[in-house]
Amino acid sequence: MYIGLRITEFSVMYGRRKFISFIGKASLGAATIPPFLTSCGNTTTPSKTFVQSDEARLNTLRKLAVEGLNPSDQDDLLLSNGLNYHTVIKWGDQISDDDFFGFNNDFTCFIPLNEDDPSDGLLWVNHENMDPLFVSDFNYREFDNPKEYHTLEQVDKEMYSVGGSIVRIKREGGKWMPVKNDPHNRRFTAKTPIKLNWDTPIEGKTTAIGTNSNCSGGITPWNTFLTCEENYHNCFGEITYDKDDIPSKTPSRYGWDEFYDYPPEHYGWVVEIDPKNGSAQKHIALGRFAHECCTLYELEDKRIVAYSGDDKANEHLYKFVSSVPGSLKEGTLYVADTVNGKWLSLDWESQPILKGKFKDQTEVLIRVREAAKLIGATELNRPEDIEIDPITGNVLVSLTNNYGKKDFHGSILKVEETDGKFDSLTFKASTFLAGGEENGFSCPDNLAFDLSGNLWITSDISGRAMNKEDGPYPPFKNNSLFVVPRYGKDEGKVIRIASAPRDAEFTGPWFSPDGTTLFLSVQHPGEQTTDLQNPTSRWPFDEDGVPKPAVVAITGDLIEKMNKLRLIEMNEPS
Ligand code: FEO
Ligand code: CA
Ligand code: CA
Repeated sequence: MYIGLRITEFSVMYGRRKFISFIGKASLGAATIPPFLTSCGNTTTPSKTFVQSDEARLNTLRKLAVEGLNPSDQDDLLLSNGLNYHTVIKWGDQISDDDFFGFNNDFTCFIPLNEDDPSDGLLWVNHENMDPLFVSDFNYREFDNPKEYHTLEQVDKEMYSVGGSIVRIKREGGKWMPVKNDPHNRRFTAKTPIKLNWDTPIEGKTTAIGTNSNCSGGITPWNTFLTCEENYHNCFGEITYDKDDIPSKTPSRYGWDEFYDYPPEHYGWVVEIDPKNGSAQKHIALGRFAHECCTLYELEDKRIVAYSGDDKANEHLYKFVSSVPGSLKEGTLYVADTVNGKWLSLDWESQPILKGKFKDQTEVLIRVREAAKLIGATELNRPEDIEIDPITGNVLVSLTNNYGKKDFHGSILKVEETDGKFDSLTFKASTFLAGGEENGFSCPDNLAFDLSGNLWITSDISGRAMNKEDGPYPPFKNNSLFVVPRYGKDEGKVIRIASAPRDAEFTGPWFSPDGTTLFLSVQHPGEQTTDLQNPTSRWPFDEDGVPKPAVVAITGDLIEKMNKLRLIEMNEPS
């Protein structure tokens, strides 16, 4: 059960100096942040100045009554009182004369272009996957053998619709709008060449073609975006090994490998995007698996700790610790043994069991799931998003569910690194919050801390199981966004703030740096549609009646009050 620490208690326990290092890392490192890009509205990212003890703001938070929504199966985006939304950008919108916004948006990240103006910046958005019914007019459900009917032209459209987008957005008259044709605007697709950040070629190449399956992500202290390749096997299949270590290829779900012979080993990585110039690289040292996200912490000596979960039932939680400041290449990858509280090294050189099975470190990283199991990593129930609690310094990990183990509602795991040191090789693991009817939510996926340290959670009940009377999910109805206040009378409660349109999940929660806007993706509304003339959702209610994934901006009194303490100080809105 969650027991929240009040901010004053925390500062007594840890002292002001350490508190700053959790909340306002960039108050230590602000001088090194390039003026081009400044802080993001996320307390695990660099900030400017920490405001510790503003009693007036704290009292606002303590008195705040958060009115929750009841579960709903309505086909609409519903919000608690005091909130409203507008659509920022949706699938098919032109971001330039040449490019348009992709499908199924997930992770979002906003970086202001100028630190003095939080209303103008670059929005990164992941495009995780696509439904050919919508993007290429290929209704595979009509065919017994769909492969025979899938065309190259359709596959090219599908490959364009995934990856990610950078789009400059500005707030004018209270609304965020894309700046079409801004020079920063660009698309990354399943065909964009991307460098492999590794000394050894992979499948004979130093560059991969494209990024795909971009689920959640992260941001670096040097203000680049991280986009994580999750269910990559859908695109170009996977290489599996039998008991004699003989490889074989399993075909992809999308059938792209029928047209393009790209090695599966080129996907399943963390990809870094530099918004200044559009350069991109895949970080091999972080391992290859269904990366949900990648959450970074910069140590005082500037070495980097990177957490990432493998979103597959019975897979693992990983942590990379760099040996060189600012590197995502030089260092050691570890995997969690949550039973014994140990980070286990995946270093080929020093682990005889890995030397006996794999030929070198590159093979360990490509086949890291097998390596993790060999050295005794703990199997987890779909580790998804990870955030560092800015108030306690604990690492929170969503464990979405595991049908095979009859864990239908999932939980949030708390990892307390020994002595609060993020490069520690030991930790304590416990359940922070359990999904289920008692706490009012199921299947936690994305996590975000707002500028006051309140925790926001999105749920991901699968479209196939949501609202099905014979399953475990009817009480929860549509996927939703929840908040767990850290102050006042609702402290520690899980409160439903938004309800998603039919079949959709909310993804990519991200706060603007002034705490006035919550950016949120609405992913796969109408996902269960089999006939375009009769979709299961009509959201966002365009004239054509076609459901469309979109990024929305949620604004209003409640967002501003929740962000009142503003652990990151920005220009004060009146
Ligand atoms: Fe793409 Fe794990 O959600
Ligand atoms: Ca997710
Ligand atoms: Ca998900």
